[in-house]
Amino acid sequence: MAEPAIEVYEDEQRTFPPDPAFVAQANSGDRSLFDEAAADREAFWARQARELITWDTDFHTTLEWNLPDAKWFLGGELNVAANCLDRHVAAGKGDKVAYHWEGEPGDQITITYAELLDEVCKFANVLKDLGLEKGDRVAIYMPMILELPIAMLACARLGVAHSVIFGGFSADAIVDRCEDAEAKLIITADAGYRRGAAARLKPTVDTALTTGAASVENVVVVNRCDTAPEMTEGRDHWWHELMADASTDCPAEPMDAEQLLYLLYTSGTTAKPKGIMHTTGGYLTQVAFSHKYVFDLKPETDIYWCAADIGWVTGHSYIVYGPLANGCTSVMYEGTPDTPDKDRLWDIAARYGVTQLYTAPTAIRMFMKWGTEYVERHDLSKLRVLGTVGEPINPEAWMWYHTHIGGESTPIVDTWWQTETGGHMITPLPGVTTTKPGSATHAIPGVVAELVDDEGNTVTEGGGYLTIAEPWPSMLRGIWGNPERFRETYWSRFPGRYFAGDGAKLDSDGYLWLLGRVDDVMNVSGHRISTTEVESALVDHPAVAEAAVVGGTDDVTGQAIIGYVILRGTHEASDELGNEIREHVGVKLGKIARPKTVIIVPDLPKTRSGKIMRRLLRDVADGRSLGDTTTLADPGVVAEIQSRAAEGDED
Ligand code: WTA
Repeated sequence: MAEPAIEVYEDEQRTFPPDPAFVAQANSGDRSLFDEAAADREAFWARQARELITWDTDFHTTLEWNLPDAKWFLGGELNVAANCLDRHVAAGKGDKVAYHWEGEPGDQITITYAELLDEVCKFANVLKDLGLEKGDRVAIYMPMILELPIAMLACARLGVAHSVIFGGFSADAIVDRCEDAEAKLIITADAGYRRGAAARLKPTVDTALTTGAASVENVVVVNRCDTAPEMTEGRDHWWHELMADASTDCPAEPMDAEQLLYLLYTSGTTAKPKGIMHTTGGYLTQVAFSHKYVFDLKPETDIYWCAADIGWVTGHSYIVYGPLANGCTSVMYEGTPDTPDKDRLWDIAARYGVTQLYTAPTAIRMFMKWGTEYVERHDLSKLRVLGTVGEPINPEAWMWYHTHIGGESTPIVDTWWQTETGGHMITPLPGVTTTKPGSATHAIPGVVAELVDDEGNTVTEGGGYLTIAEPWPSMLRGIWGNPERFRETYWSRFPGRYFAGDGAKLDSDGYLWLLGRVDDVMNVSGHRISTTEVESALVDHPAVAEAAVVGGTDDVTGQAIIGYVILRGTHEASDELGNEIREHVGVKLGKIARPKTVIIVPDLPKTRSGKIMRRLLRDVADGRSLGDTTTLADPGVVAEIQSRAAEGDED
């Protein structure tokens, strides 16, 4: 296994205990949840499930565990959409705002729980009319508009599993995901606003459907930007036309606790993304629990904002399901943080009086670069909890967040979790945990995180591999269509344990410091990208004979994709060709996977057993400042690779 990408911040000694005033009002201000869970983990989760969720039929068994297959809350029946909507409306909270939505151009929509319920019921009826039934799969490829959570909840209402595909992904990515899931329908929009322009989506869906995804029978299109996309007769339907006559009457049918709620594809160590499966009762319990306690949520008064994209798991769990299950008011924003100016986030936070902000370390490092003047324009005094997710946060970025956004008093929750874990796993609780900048601190109550060494022995101090030793309610239930890969990927390296793929370190106070992936997965701006996937896209270009991809260090995006390529016989290295190769990856996989730099080399350094020396390539990339370009067979790079390979690095 490769070494983790980053070094732990060994000398980081600062500690930040919770403010007594915060503790006094916190949802959890002492160790009682930890104690309760430690005494009886299953009973603890059963209590959370019954308190936070409304069940149509109570469960009779909390957990059935046949490694690696878990079933939680057996016999229980519930509907996720009814938990997110109907029960709040029935409790007299129909007029409460569910989302303050803001489009990038500045258009605003405020939607209440009662209005959201009506829209969801209408769209669920549309889905029924299009022939969708419980157990079917639907792909969703949309910008950050309200129709996206409406579509997801309408699926959940019917027991149809959604598979949300991030709007930045390519036509090929849509084909792969739709074919793997045998999706019957794609829900999309003509386009969404990004940096002041309409970024088109529908033409990408059209391309996908001309190349594959034969299972897709219909396409529903939201008209967001008036870009007048081509509509294929009989296959493509306008959202607003289907919704015009749809009835708001659509009773929520109780679902089994283990009914498939969604698939979300994520990169692994092979070229083929995995369809991570999440189910109903356990998932909703853990996301509602963590949303309530990690953000210290007060649904009556808080204005909560997770500034992620729903295309990733963070948006699923902490823009849609957790916040709505808890009946809170959220902000949802369509566009980028620098449009029209670099203070857009702070402007939104101040105008709505945001109380919790949840974002990624990459974004924080970008704000740092932009400078504090943008922050200082706005009053952020309502903020009372700040969160981060997606990648390790360096102490410098943590301190900047603490000082400039948090006014030196707002607790920061650095939340470690994964698409596979469904919800938070390792994070401070803001009223309980003394934080250290750069440490995600400890597992939440009811989760058992342990480090192990190469032989699988537990490590109580020092470095190791992060594992989860006991099943948890929102754990993935498998990889769609591939139980063998599920067992192999997560459960075979350390028998009896879930292996997360991350390296971590435990300090002498028992604090966990996440060090990054130990497999061939890169983390670019908090997004998981597989080196193998990018290598496959590189060698797919006709001029490329061989490719090696490494995650170099980048002070904003955490890691950056660096591709080393060898050209086929007759091709001549040139800037144009290098850029064409970079763009090819963008087209094959989507812009987020396009290498920052492509370096054309005559040879790749290999060990005697034929393995590419990735660490060497990473070091070479880190040793120079690489731009968003192609570096032609730079004699310096080539010489360095050759001399270091000759030293026998990694052999
Ligand atoms: C990384 C995102 C350090 C980690 C929710 C994990 C983190 C991968 C943190 C999952 C954090 C996520 N500190 N590393 N607080 N949060 N990661 O599936 O490597 O997109 O395995 O889920 O992101 O990424 P995913």
